[in-house]
Amino acid sequence: MDVANVNAEHVNELLQAQAHVWNHIFNFMNSMSLKCAIDLGIPDIIQNHGKPMTVTDLVAALPINATKACSIYRLMRILVHSGFFAQQKLGENPQEEGYVLTNASRLLLKGDPLSVRPLLKAILDPVVIKPWHFLGTWFQNDDPTPFVTAHGRSFWDYGAHVDPNFGHSFKEAMASDARLVTNVLIHECKEAFKGLNSLVDVGGGTGTVAKGIADAFPQLECTAFDLPHVVAGLQGSGNLKYVGGDMFEAVPAADAVLLKWILHDWNDEECVKILKRCKGAISNRDKVGVKVIIIEMILMDQKQKVNDQESIETQLFFDMEMMVVATGRERNQEEWAKLFFAAGFTDYKITHKLGLRSLIEVYP
Ligand SMILES: C[S@@+](CC[C@H](N)C(=O)[O-])C[C@H]1O[C@@H](n2cnc3c(N)ncnc32)[C@H](O)[C@@H]1O
Repeated sequence: MDVANVNAEHVNELLQAQAHVWNHIFNFMNSMSLKCAIDLGIPDIIQNHGKPMTVTDLVAALPINATKACSIYRLMRILVHSGFFAQQKLGENPQEEGYVLTNASRLLLKGDPLSVRPLLKAILDPVVIKPWHFLGTWFQNDDPTPFVTAHGRSFWDYGAHVDPNFGHSFKEAMASDARLVTNVLIHECKEAFKGLNSLVDVGGGTGTVAKGIADAFPQLECTAFDLPHVVAGLQGSGNLKYVGGDMFEAVPAADAVLLKWILHDWNDEECVKILKRCKGAISNRDKVGVKVIIIEMILMDQKQKVNDQESIETQLFFDMEMMVVATGRERNQEEWAKLFFAAGFTDYKITHKLGLRSLIEVYP
């Protein structure tokens, strides 16, 4: 465009549009700066310091090359801006400030069993980032996922057979999320487990959720069910056992089937197949109150919740992630209901007590 043609009235709009584009071009830096802080162990170093930590103390404690010392405050500056650290006065001198953790960075500490750190490590691993560079190509080819376009294998296959380290990192990400959710679940959603004698956690990974539920409800016989290679060598005890198998083939019988973060990995047709298997697993019980318990996001209405933009955006990020690594998607309530009825269920109940996710009880 000819520079002289820029209408003076539209200069502001033009510059605002440019700033918006810039913001989105550089948006990944929020994630990458945070990843860097985690790689360097910054949250743990500040936590162990026991009081607000000056940049000088932080630099001295970090395992970095001396020539990079003067860049640490720049890394910290963007992370203060994004809410992962705050600055507090150290004493009388108003000039002297130190970094402290925020609720968000407390969730990224190494030793915290509820840490979100493993999820950050897995999602920002180059293995998961690479398929994003193939998203456009994937739209033009017939591969099932951008992950397959990038790596030539499905996400599940890759973790199991090509890069066991990545497979392990993903399992740890799931387990850490499972610890956090189970904690909330057994306090906030006790009612959902009332009257049940047995429960099978389908796609239950290494059994973190099943173990948490088994410990919280000793009368409940719990089974963690996952692919044979995932549960190989895992030993149950007390009211917890492990079973290997394929949820598309058969699901062990129980009063309730739990599906946490399973259905969002799969397309509608695959979900209906899984749900039918789950219905089969609870239907041969001569009992009232049998159900499938689902823990998933229910996409918020973009138009209605205008004042919760971050939550809406995070849900949309998850939806895109499911598109890139798996054949799945996040769904709104209508889309969920459609799946339940297509699989032969007659009713469902939603409890919104799990943050961005919900508990959905589905009845045969
Ligand atoms: C996103 S992870 C969720 C793990 C766990 N439910 C949680 O939220 O912590 C999906 C799980 O489904 C399992 N999975 C994938 N295909 C499966 C199949 N055909 N049968 C049983 N489990 C399967 C994976 O091994 C993985 O553990």
